Amino acid sequence: MEVELPWGARCAAAAFFVSSLCVAALGVVLLLLRRWPWCGCHVCRAYLAGSWRREFANLGDWYADLLRRSPTGTVHVHVLGCTVTANPANVEYMLKTRFDNFPKGRPFAALLGDLLGDGIFNVDGDAWRHQRKMASLELGSVAVRSYAYKIVAQEVEARLMPVLANAADSGAVVDLQDVFRRFAFDTICKISFGLDPGCLDREMPVSELADAFDAASRLSAMRGAAASPLLWKMKRFLNVGSERELKKAIKLIDGLAAAMIRERRKLGVANSHDLLSRFMASSGDDARGAADDKFLRDIVVSFLLAGRDTVSSALTTLFMILSKNPDVAAAMRAEAGAAAGESAAVSYEHLKRLNYTHAVLYENMRLFPPVQFDSKFCAAADVLPDGTYVDGGARVMYHPYAMGRMPRIWGADCDAFRPERWLTGAGGAFVPESLFKYPVFQAGLRVCLGKELAITEMKAVSVAVVRAFDVEVVGENGRCGGGGAAAPRFVPGLTASISGGLPVKIRRV
Ligand code: HEM
Repeated sequence: MEVELPWGARCAAAAFFVSSLCVAALGVVLLLLRRWPWCGCHVCRAYLAGSWRREFANLGDWYADLLRRSPTGTVHVHVLGCTVTANPANVEYMLKTRFDNFPKGRPFAALLGDLLGDGIFNVDGDAWRHQRKMASLELGSVAVRSYAYKIVAQEVEARLMPVLANAADSGAVVDLQDVFRRFAFDTICKISFGLDPGCLDREMPVSELADAFDAASRLSAMRGAAASPLLWKMKRFLNVGSERELKKAIKLIDGLAAAMIRERRKLGVANSHDLLSRFMASSGDDARGAADDKFLRDIVVSFLLAGRDTVSSALTTLFMILSKNPDVAAAMRAEAGAAAGESAAVSYEHLKRLNYTHAVLYENMRLFPPVQFDSKFCAAADVLPDGTYVDGGARVMYHPYAMGRMPRIWGADCDAFRPERWLTGAGGAFVPESLFKYPVFQAGLRVCLGKELAITEMKAVSVAVVRAFDVEVVGENGRCGGGGAAAPRFVPGLTASISGGLPVKIRRV
């Protein structure tokens, strides 16, 4: 039996069909306009034809190869209107010397604007300066640091270790990437607002907030891959496809963030050390709600993004690489054992003294930085120190992933995983390199504010795990990290995550 649709519904369906057709047609036109091979250079040809995929697992590996061959360590991808550099002098120029001429810029702010709002990652100028000052005061304070360390230690002991012990006893294969994402999310939520989503409880529950966060950061990153910003803006206007999904995820995040802010206000902020309470207290907030909720929401969302996927990404590649380098895991175990002495646990003070472990973490992130590339916009036409001319309004990308693979920065053995390269101080002490050669945490005026916290968190996790367990990567990704630089396939996104996760078997030592 056929059902006759009412006139209004038919009109709406026709309008939807026509508008979808228009969006699709516009997309094809823009794609052709943008990708039309007007540039015949070998880089643009390989990019357009996708022929780089024949030789390289990831776009980053191809860029690394191009940058190694370039005499200046800089290349142009003309069809993207982008200059890509792995030259430390250029990085210093952009991030420090001419900082004001290389802002994030409006196109970047637009991509992440719906998710991050006016949070610290997404703003330039005075709005950024103000938040940077507040955030560095809080993250630098002794009270917040020791609160954060307490949370990390609790999460390792009460949640991470039991989950891994359970896997060891049952012999089950677990996805270590998923375990670390859950761990990092619980930890950063507790540090940021003092509330516990419980993602790493034994039953591995589904968290609405974590899922909404995953969806929102994936869909926001997808905007950057669109043929033209007009395409996603049109989809957003019509509320269709991925933009509709993104809107739904952000609405959920907004609702949960608002509930957390309300809850915090009710509980009182005076004696709490989580970041939200500190921000509320320093902006004069109290039970009457003086601070701007939108401002607090944007701060909270930025910290979640900053502290979750970065830490879990670095921990995942660390255990991938340790699985192929058991001698390094054994040396970490010996160092931690010696530092702890008679006590079972390694304290905060012990962690600070673990030079070898520190070097292992840095060496892992040299080869596998969690943020593989970072783009800036050149406000007024400029010339980089290597002589590269950059047009006003053009995009310049510096590439930590490629930089970690440059012989002229790290020497002929740059592809080898060799923690000792960092132990050049007196008595084999850890000595950091210039952050412009190693911009894993960015460098210059916008250097990461969570660097110390992240290192402490990763030390606490890696030391606890290597002391108790051997981790063996199984399946395809188990082939990676042997020689050091051999990379798994990464999922394109804001932070590096391994396609297919990291399936592992755990054994007690
Ligand atoms: C391994 C872990 C981490 C890595 C590799 C990392 C890396 C980075 C990078 C590359 C940036 C620059 C992003 C950009 O401007 O485009 C950044 C900025 C930032 N990070 Fe981290 N991060 C890590 C962990 C953390 C943690 C745990 C926190 C806080 C709890 C944090 C807080 C921040 C903040 C607030 C900024 C913004 C700084 C500014 O724009 O002035 N990060 N981080």
